[in-house]
Amino acid sequence: MGMSEAIGPPFWLLAELTYRCPLHCAFCYNPVDFARHEEELSTEDWLRVLREARALGAVQCGFSGGEPLQRDDLEVLVAEAHRLGYYSNLITSGIGLNERRIRALKDAGLDHIQLSFQDSTREVNDFLSSTRTFDLKRKAAALIKSQNYPMVMNCVIHRLNIEHIERIIELAVELDADYLELANVQFYAWAQRNRAQLMPTHEQLQRAEAITQQWRERLGTRMKLLFVVPDYYESRPKKCMNGWGNVFLTVTPDGTALPCHTARMLPGLAFPNVREMNVADIWLRSEGFNRYRGTGWLPEPCRSCPEKEKDHGGCRCQAYMLTQDAGATDPVCDKSAHHELILQAREQATQPKLTEQPLIFRGPAESRRIDQPF
Ligand code: FES
Repeated sequence: MGMSEAIGPPFWLLAELTYRCPLHCAFCYNPVDFARHEEELSTEDWLRVLREARALGAVQCGFSGGEPLQRDDLEVLVAEAHRLGYYSNLITSGIGLNERRIRALKDAGLDHIQLSFQDSTREVNDFLSSTRTFDLKRKAAALIKSQNYPMVMNCVIHRLNIEHIERIIELAVELDADYLELANVQFYAWAQRNRAQLMPTHEQLQRAEAITQQWRERLGTRMKLLFVVPDYYESRPKKCMNGWGNVFLTVTPDGTALPCHTARMLPGLAFPNVREMNVADIWLRSEGFNRYRGTGWLPEPCRSCPEKEKDHGGCRCQAYMLTQDAGATDPVCDKSAHHELILQAREQATQPKLTEQPLIFRGPAESRRIDQPF
């Protein structure tokens, strides 16, 4: 059997339509050098990507960014995704949503919207995004509800808002959310730049989890609460992206196809562009998607570990950022020879001289100044 016959289709197509965004979040997951990749695919290119990925077997399509509402053709792309039979999801800050656009998105067949907040208070929300957006987000929440979408709210949790967790849950209740994702910050891209300032202490995390559990019991089926644990406080790594080249196919604004948001920074790996190669060839045959697929490539101690099928050795990008070797065991694992790096980071979260440094906010000017790709 040839290699390509053993590879299943991607389940998710993540269409990162643009890196443009009115917000400047200090934990943004867009690459820190995004300003060097500003050229965007055309509408025609995206329509072709949608068709090719669907023909390959993708069934879910996420439109994200940057802020996907910055693209005037979003409704056209959503309509095509709907026609092709995808379940479509808009991942948005809500900025740019108005009566006209929410109706047009509904008419185009958009299935699902995820709205992000940075905090429960105007002050912290606006500080973390370096914009005055709190009130606009509340309006966006009302618009989403007005079209009978389930209200799916997301809030990235970190040291600067973790003490507000109860208020964040109350805000979700007030906005009549059906689902709240409390996504503890993961340290990639801009969040990695601000790691010491954003990492909560273990005590903060335990308290936040306990409060979330109390609210879960109180709310019952009225609102679903998801608490995503940060892997720096785990002893086993996550199966990143549910396995490299296994479920997710990300296409960046300039058309580079990646197995995750940040893989472009990994040295020595070629990732094709959808302008030059069709999606099936990229997924099945490109070197970039095959390098870390499955478990055959694993180094020790993963290779002989009984848990290797659970985590596939963890995250390639995290391994690279911390050890400069994308093929190493993710240092989150306490069997990794580099686990000490994680313990050091936890220790740094208790040192005020590090945690109180000013934040670096995401923005094109800052992005151009940065000389390292992570
Ligand atoms: Fe790239 Fe985990 S984020 S493999």
